[in-house]
Amino acid sequence: MTLTKLTFMPYDATMEEGVRQLFLEYPHKDYQLRVMGASKYRMAQYLHSTLSEPGMQTICLRDNGSLVGLIALQFLPWMSEHFGLRMFAIRHLLARSVGPLVLSRLLRFIKEELGEVDFLDCRIAVDDIFAAHALEVCGFRYVGTEIFAGKRLSISDQIEISPTVDVSCCEHRDRDEILEIAEEGHVYNRFMNDPLIESHAARSLYRRLLEKCFDHPQFDVLVAKSDDHVQGFIVAKTNLNFGHIVGVGCGSLDFIGVRPEIRQRGVGSTLNRVALAQMAQNGLEYAGVRTLANNYAAMRNCFCTGFAVTSSSLHFHAWIRRARVSARRKLTRIEPNSPDRLKSPLRYKSAGNQAPEQETNQRRSCQNVAFYCRQPESSGASS
Ligand SMILES: CC(C)(COP(=O)(O)OP(=O)(O)OC[C@H]1O[C@@H](n2cnc3c(N)ncnc32)[C@H](O)[C@@H]1OP(=O)(O)O)[C@@H](O)C(=O)NCCC(=O)NCCS
Repeated sequence: MTLTKLTFMPYDATMEEGVRQLFLEYPHKDYQLRVMGASKYRMAQYLHSTLSEPGMQTICLRDNGSLVGLIALQFLPWMSEHFGLRMFAIRHLLARSVGPLVLSRLLRFIKEELGEVDFLDCRIAVDDIFAAHALEVCGFRYVGTEIFAGKRLSISDQIEISPTVDVSCCEHRDRDEILEIAEEGHVYNRFMNDPLIESHAARSLYRRLLEKCFDHPQFDVLVAKSDDHVQGFIVAKTNLNFGHIVGVGCGSLDFIGVRPEIRQRGVGSTLNRVALAQMAQNGLEYAGVRTLANNYAAMRNCFCTGFAVTSSSLHFHAWIRRARVSARRKLTRIEPNSPDRLKSPLRYKSAGNQAPEQETNQRRSCQNVAFYCRQPESSGASS
């Protein structure tokens, strides 16, 4: 048996080349890049740039000094507020190894040592089997498969727009109707598939997501109206930073919703077409869209407006249920802005007494879990 020395450490500039190499070696989304017309090198540059985004913390794993893996977590501030938990997304999970071992080490480190994490969300490529195994081993729960589709945009494309559907830019007075359609109609989302989240909290999440788009310059909201009432809407996003680094002007169709009573009459496809035409006119070259794999209506709507599948991902959630503090090591919180943050491999250091603030936070968090989450045994869901 060979024993090797594994060390966890926060990412710093001395690891830049090694980390860039890890992104370059990632083999799972190459087809998507080809369809998009983006080089892998520039994509690696973009992914590397995300490590310095606000709220991101990255931990690297070294084996006898050489970099073998990386995990990057991003705090989700407003989602945390919505669900009353401290929620994080695993933005990157990479390993230079054959098998799930390094990936599971990284996941365990996050789950066991980062005391402020209540919830983790992780999306992996569908063919990243080792990551899927590592997530299963570490107690993550599968919540759905997402299909990514893409389409090259050209200003010279013919746009077929139904003469019976009137599409215009969203006005302030349209907002309430849009939110109502979103809250009613957006049942295909991973939170709905998570038995630990109440469906009303999952629905209202989509309402809030949309509210955030209205006044944000990255988003364009279009509405289909009849008799001065909103019958459907679409939200398109321009990803300027991504386009700048990758060298392809990219946008995405982020939300669409049509009132149930007028579906399958061409409103959804018209909204897609108008949004795509507007993106092309604004100089974008590529549009992406993603949807849950069981949302057949949304997928059909994308395919009939020229999208093709470019990749697919599996989505997992993990709820960190920590034992009561008395059963664990006594911990003192290191505040996010403290100079101690992630300098040592542990976010928390041993201490004699628990800080009262931490105790209060934990109790508050537990109360919120009780409020928002069904108990697994009463949910009737298989787990
Ligand atoms: C997805 C959605 C916007 C489609 O709107 P729509 O107005 O019904 O779409 P259209 O009438 O333009 O139909 C577009 C295509 O999809 C097909 N389609 C739409 N709904 C369908 C369904 N339930 N089953 C099968 N095909 C369907 C149509 O037949 C049409 O295909 P065709 O041109 O080959 O005949 C609508 O179903 C919806 O609001 N769903 C809930 C919200 C949602 O899930 N949004 C996506 C995630 S953000």
